[in-house]
Amino acid sequence: MPLPLLQVTNLIHRFANGTLAVNDVNWVIEQGQFIVLSGSNGSGKTALVRHFNGLLLPTSGSVLLNGVPVQKQLLAARQAVGMVFQDSGSQMVAQTVWDEIAFGPENLYLSPSEISSRVQEALAWVGLQGFENRHPFELSGGEQRRLAIAGILVMRPKMVVFDEPFNGLDYPGVVQTLQQMVRLHQNNHTILVITHDLEKVLAHATRLTLMQNGQLVADGTPEAVLPQTPQFGVKRPYPVNRPIDSLTWLTN
Ligand SMILES: Nc1ncnc2c1ncn2[C@@H]1O[C@H](COP(=O)(O)OP(=O)(O)OP(=O)(O)O)[C@@H](O)[C@H]1O
Ligand SMILES: [Mg+2]
Repeated sequence: MPLPLLQVTNLIHRFANGTLAVNDVNWVIEQGQFIVLSGSNGSGKTALVRHFNGLLLPTSGSVLLNGVPVQKQLLAARQAVGMVFQDSGSQMVAQTVWDEIAFGPENLYLSPSEISSRVQEALAWVGLQGFENRHPFELSGGEQRRLAIAGILVMRPKMVVFDEPFNGLDYPGVVQTLQQMVRLHQNNHTILVITHDLEKVLAHATRLTLMQNGQLVADGTPEAVLPQTPQFGVKRPYPVNRPIDSLTWLTN
């Protein structure tokens, strides 16, 4: 059996104020999955995934990335697991779109030509060509989210985590974000989407996982887990399957 991408064992995270945010989670994520993680507000979803690239470290238990504890390979983990947060705009540091995307590769000390070709590739991937010289704060919320995705893809991650990616997006923005997720998955990236909005994304997922009070309370195929969603504070999607193909007219 090949090593799983991520192996979470007896993970506990207690914040300094005493909140037990992650309470004994065991979870294995194999390369190539498309996982939807849901659960009510405060159930520990964001806290859990922040352990995958070392933004949070375990209070106890372990998180192995390719068999090695994340805290022993922080730089590699930041590259391998990219995270797109809802407030991605507020985390931007550079004066231009180009520099924002180049920031990560520059910290890897790649050659200027390698950085340039990677940035161009990432810009094209998210459709932001022509925006190179704009200030990140002069982009719309949806464009900022695409920029955040470009800043992650430029690092060539194995896994991309989207935390509430649909909040604040209009319908075309939702469709574009979904299409990017599906394309990334087709290009062998492992995808994890945290959302309350199952009906937007579940048709593409291979796995649905639910959290409550810091624990994983359901984990399996979407078909198997769907009947349990209401008892854990997550609305069942309606209609259950709405393939992305039926929405593509919006962006054509
Ligand atoms: N920095 C922090 N310090 C202290 N407690 C925190 C911190 N961040 C989160 N918490 C608490 O940890 C618990 C889990 O929070 P988390 O953000 O992981 O929830 P979530 O499932 O992502 O919720 P939401 O759906 O609202 O985003 C909550 O009780 C929250 O109040
Ligand atoms: Mg959250």
